[in-house]
Amino acid sequence: MTQAEIKALFTQMTLAEKIGQLTQLPGHFYSNDGEITGPIAELGISEEIVHQCGSTLGISGAAEVMRVQKEYLAKSRLKIPLLFMADVVHGYRTIFPIPLAMGASWNLELAQESARVAAAEADVAGVHVTFAPMVDLVRDPRWGRVMESTGEDSYLNEMFAQAMVRGFQGEHLESGRVAACVKHFAAYGAAEAGRDYNTVDMSRLMLRNQYLPAYKAAIDAGVKLIMTSFNTVEGVPATVNRWLLRDLLRKEWHFEGTVISDYTSLAEVVNHGLASDLKDVAELGLNAGLDIEMSSPSYVKYLAQLVDAGKVRLADIDEAVMRVLTLKNELGLFENPYRGANVELESKLHFSAEHQAVALAQAEESLVLLKNESNILPLSKEKKVILIGPKATARDHIGAWCWKGDKRETPTIEEALLPYFPNMKTVEATTMDEDIGIADAVAQAKDVDVIILAIGEKRSFSGEARSKADITLTDMQLRLITALKQLNKPMIALVMNGRPLDLHGVIEHVDALMVCWHAGTQAAKAIAKTLMGMSVPSGKLSMTFPHSVGQIPVYYNALNTGRPLKNFAPVVGYSEDYLSKYLDIPNAPRYPFGFGLSYTTFAYSDITLSKAAFSKGESITASLTVTNTGNFAGKEVVQLYIRDCVASVSRPVKELKGFQKIFLAVGESKELHFTINEEMLRYYHADESFSSDAGDFTLFIGTSSDDDARKIDFSLV
Ligand code: GLC
Repeated sequence: MTQAEIKALFTQMTLAEKIGQLTQLPGHFYSNDGEITGPIAELGISEEIVHQCGSTLGISGAAEVMRVQKEYLAKSRLKIPLLFMADVVHGYRTIFPIPLAMGASWNLELAQESARVAAAEADVAGVHVTFAPMVDLVRDPRWGRVMESTGEDSYLNEMFAQAMVRGFQGEHLESGRVAACVKHFAAYGAAEAGRDYNTVDMSRLMLRNQYLPAYKAAIDAGVKLIMTSFNTVEGVPATVNRWLLRDLLRKEWHFEGTVISDYTSLAEVVNHGLASDLKDVAELGLNAGLDIEMSSPSYVKYLAQLVDAGKVRLADIDEAVMRVLTLKNELGLFENPYRGANVELESKLHFSAEHQAVALAQAEESLVLLKNESNILPLSKEKKVILIGPKATARDHIGAWCWKGDKRETPTIEEALLPYFPNMKTVEATTMDEDIGIADAVAQAKDVDVIILAIGEKRSFSGEARSKADITLTDMQLRLITALKQLNKPMIALVMNGRPLDLHGVIEHVDALMVCWHAGTQAAKAIAKTLMGMSVPSGKLSMTFPHSVGQIPVYYNALNTGRPLKNFAPVVGYSEDYLSKYLDIPNAPRYPFGFGLSYTTFAYSDITLSKAAFSKGESITASLTVTNTGNFAGKEVVQLYIRDCVASVSRPVKELKGFQKIFLAVGESKELHFTINEEMLRYYHADESFSSDAGDFTLFIGTSSDDDARKIDFSLV
């Protein structure tokens, strides 16, 4: 439809019909197949209102979507199609690695391709909007939803946000694409104590410099919707936060898309203590700039009254409704309310070999090798191995937001390894009596060359409402490792996890450890290929692995403090004793952001700069040569960090400003060039102005955020 036709349709709408477009109901109001993805709240609304509501979440599947849409339109006076939304976060039926694992791939093209595949499978299943990408910056592995984020770095999250929006939406929501909804706006990942839905409170400076940029990147990439978060931002719940939704999002960032709440997050404003009932929250939400209320009834119950009482402006309602109608029009729903839903195509596309190939490639590039003593990996087929652990025959590699992923379609590690080791024994070691299970595992491992441990977290240990205060492995797994250690045999740990873990009790006992995450449908195959050297690990952590939970929050781009343990410049006499440190653990994390090993080794030359100083409008080039000095062809993520040495606010000791993931054959060298310009040096000042300062900077290029082996100074004049 043309905008004029939309306008003409709009003028026919009654107030009740307008308000209906601003309400999204859970799928079970329209379909028994509707997935419940939040607390079930009976809303106490009439059948008539149900059929005036403009969108639903949780229904998917071509046949069911078409049935619901047909029934809905038959009851719709103005034939405005229902909008179908769903949580296709890291795959629809072909499940990709959890986003935290994708972040560890540092492969933006692959992430974009993964999102494209997810969109293609979602589109034929009748989904119009996906609630992704989730771009919340995360620094606390106790929080269960770190699995859904690409990690702790703002720049890396911005890059992935753009890649995923492009993958989901394509150029203009063409066939095979869906509208994306970036979430959760804003700073949901900073929940105090890592406890889901807990208070978020930080300076405006921290918000702007670290937590907000990835949402902005998604908006600049053209994302069609944004979802407000459950938490408060500066004391006001994001869902009713005028500064966030009107001043920042609309006036400063010029976002023209649709703002949708999280599941009942509008109604929950009563619990936050800013409203005494749903009528109050309806007023707060609409006036703050919330367009669609998800799964709670305050808009449909009270907005009409609030208009009559002059508490909300009809003009604001009209603006919100026009945004929703525009979204439906951009999706082509007025021409074809069934859009891409197609039963035949669905069966062909879902879980297709082509899609599995993308999932396999993504899984391979997401695995992170943290330890490989005496190059025990890759394994030779001649070795006599045993597979031991509770994850050996598990199929739950598909993570917490696995939509229609079917774990029965997910091979186990045992199944993936048997072709290489036909005589391999497998011992799950999980029996009612753990000691018996452990003793059995030890007995069966006595005559093997290598022990492969399949350990880690259940997928139900991470995800929404799945925070954990203890991020070590289970007691049984730790006792199993200690018992097997007595055999003095080489041990390789495969850790399946949804978060950074405290690896105490594992890392010191094993010869090799690979972080495998919940790496999706093709996880086991990717792990087996990597163990056998048919794939060479190239992943780099996108979130710090702490020494222990006591260190949290611990992240690479921290401020230096006045008494840093490292690089302390004693401007006045302080004793070594009075520095920022613990008495009982190191400051350094177990494994830092950007860390990951390969089967090969890479040598980095010194950095050269085209110029040591430049001014605004100019740029300089940092160059160096990287050489594959090992015995395997492989990929390396070459990382560029910059430190602003003197600024108007305290700045991080370094910040990621660029990276290149390169492939090098054995013995091959590549000269890499990084352009440095003034825009990269900008930051938010205390007065919220965004600009760079002339002055001195230090540039680092290396294989991890803790690689300070080569650095060079430059100045902005
Ligand atoms: C959930 C999640 C959000 C999801 C929404 C719809 O509570 O917070 O990420 O998209 O509800 O399922």
